Amino acid sequence: MTEDFNMLKKTDPKIAKLIEQEQKRHQDTVDLIASENYPSKSVREALGSIFVVKYAEGRPHKRYYGGQEYIDKLETLAEERALKAFKLDSQNWAVNVQPLSGAPANYEILRGLLDTSDKILCLHLPHGGHLSQGSKASLSGQDFTPVYYYLNKDGFLDYESIEELAVKEKPKLIIAGYTAYPRIIDFEKFGKIAKKVGAYLLTDTSHITGLIIGGVHPSPFPWTDVLMTTTHKTLRGPRGAMIICRKELEEKIFPKVFPGLQGGPHMHTIAALGVALGEALTPAFKKYARQIVKNAGISASELKKYGFDLVSGGTDNHLVLIDLRNKNITGKHAQELLEKAGIVTNKNTIPYDPGTPFDPSGIRLGTPAVTTRGMKEKEMKLIAGWINEVINNPGRAKEIRKKVEKLCSKFLIP
Ligand SMILES: Cc1ncc(COP(=O)(O)O)c(C=O)c1O
Repeated sequence: MTEDFNMLKKTDPKIAKLIEQEQKRHQDTVDLIASENYPSKSVREALGSIFVVKYAEGRPHKRYYGGQEYIDKLETLAEERALKAFKLDSQNWAVNVQPLSGAPANYEILRGLLDTSDKILCLHLPHGGHLSQGSKASLSGQDFTPVYYYLNKDGFLDYESIEELAVKEKPKLIIAGYTAYPRIIDFEKFGKIAKKVGAYLLTDTSHITGLIIGGVHPSPFPWTDVLMTTTHKTLRGPRGAMIICRKELEEKIFPKVFPGLQGGPHMHTIAALGVALGEALTPAFKKYARQIVKNAGISASELKKYGFDLVSGGTDNHLVLIDLRNKNITGKHAQELLEKAGIVTNKNTIPYDPGTPFDPSGIRLGTPAVTTRGMKEKEMKLIAGWINEVINNPGRAKEIRKKVEKLCSKFLIP
């Protein structure tokens, strides 16, 4: 990200300086946060475009204010690209690109499909679910009645026990798709379970949308009733979210987006999302998605060689969850230590974690951002080696930071 903030430097040097510092921080470190990515310059240009001005409450061709000629074309184009990316047709599926972010989008769906206090079946937060998927800390868990399923002791989804629980509890809605699950999700099995108990299936593919579109993770369609995805993770778009649902559910869900919870859609974000979806439809994106998974796979096998325990023993997707208990260090300490060495990660709970959410026993690593920078297997091996050195010899963090910076200087941020 090499924008020159010449105007900003003059008008607001303080903020311009913070932007430059953040830019340098990114350039000099490796971002292994599984939910972060570097959108292209084209995506960022659209994000900073004139579309930031417009109020466009409503839906394409059904707005409240004038001046919507290009807005309508833009939103329609973004919707068409979203359906194309998931290989869906507009006769059977409806798309809404207006949700401002993932958590409100999940809530909008729940409010659209359920009565408050209805039962939802969702993965327990410390096992890899997201707050907005029925956690008691979030409105999704306060306004509805969550029943949790758990990963098995090996760290895998256990479809038989999920089915048993669904049959016993008869939820109105089941959620599949997570924040910290390193394995393939069998959406077909979830679809069958939901059908058997008469529940809606909500698939939250926020983390893996880029992998699905890139052809390296199975699609939740046609099994799911509704998909929610954030747009800024593996999809590599602007921060935001979108919802795709069966056509017959459109009338229930979309009014909860607007006017239910939101006002004017962020049209500059929708412009940038349209650009990102256009990029995701290219062969280059497929190659990118494949490389994300390769990079995660090689990171996992290298870390295992160094004696790290991985939740589920490895990865099929873009993330690796390290169980640090055999290394005598907590997730919080490991995150801090690695950051000193220029390796940015996040502490994370592991299934059946004896620690707390503020000081859990794991760290989560992801490869979408470093893969965008052009890093491949060779660099993943180096980084895994450095992670091992820092965790085993905290005193070497400063020395390793120099190596990280040298590596980073060869991989510019787009
Ligand atoms: C699976 C999943 N759903 C929802 C969200 C919420 O997205 P946002 O942070 O955009 O509200 C996240 C964010 O990390 C997520 O991983």
